[in-house]
Amino acid sequence: MRDEAEQIRQVRRIFNRVVPVYDLLNRVLSLREDVRWRRFVSRSLRLGPGAKVLDVATGTGDLALAVATHAQSPLVVGLDLVPAMLGPAQKKQRTSGARLALLAGDGTKLPFAEATFDAVTIAFGIRNIPRRVAAMAEMKRVLKPGGRLYVLEFTAPQGRLVRALYLRYLARLLPWLGGLISGDQASYRYLAETIVEFPSPAEFRAEMCAAGLIAPRSHALTRGIAWVHVSERPPA
Ligand SMILES: C[S@@+](CC[C@H](N)C(=O)[O-])C[C@H]1O[C@@H](n2cnc3c(N)ncnc32)[C@H](O)[C@@H]1O
Repeated sequence: MRDEAEQIRQVRRIFNRVVPVYDLLNRVLSLREDVRWRRFVSRSLRLGPGAKVLDVATGTGDLALAVATHAQSPLVVGLDLVPAMLGPAQKKQRTSGARLALLAGDGTKLPFAEATFDAVTIAFGIRNIPRRVAAMAEMKRVLKPGGRLYVLEFTAPQGRLVRALYLRYLARLLPWLGGLISGDQASYRYLAETIVEFPSPAEFRAEMCAAGLIAPRSHALTRGIAWVHVSERPPA
């Protein structure tokens, strides 16, 4: 078990360092699948006119921007713990003209009133938050009754062959390639460890329920390397 305060310091350190190469590394390390995964989430959102969406751990803003281009043109707020990660997001927002507001903040203490958003999304961020259940309870608080939480996250796949290959990729290739491009192999070793330690889809759905969310379900992407977990704030 990692020490919580040390884990948060490490997360801040890693994401402060990786900003200039973050998007490039995402594309290279996932063979561009990450673009498809975020698009899948943005297309899955069931939004009505005038919807408001919060993207927690928005980083360089790729999911927030994908959501902002949803057919219902929602107002999207992207929030991240590490202000430096928001730099590229701000540039993308300016060039796209998307309806996207960006702010620095902690996903476990959201600066919004209860029942503000129609949907909350978080992509590859929940893995970096030590107290996941408390964080999801906070996301539930800012959801309107009946609103949905969408969590896009990696999990080591269950199938024996794919799992064996993927664990090898995580242990060897990811830290090596990540280190080569970012100059920081240790950070990529840490990120690989957090993927291996992340709960199975069934365990994660149980955590969603422990946070007070209902009707959890999961959808596998790319042979179960990435998953979208969806659940709802109970109706009023
Ligand atoms: C792997 S990046 C994901 C960024 C983006 N969502 C994407 O899909 O590329 C993880 C992000 O989570 C952010 N993060 C970690 N802990 C957080 C917290 N407690 N609150 C908000 N953001 C957090 C990090 O700063 C980092 O930008």
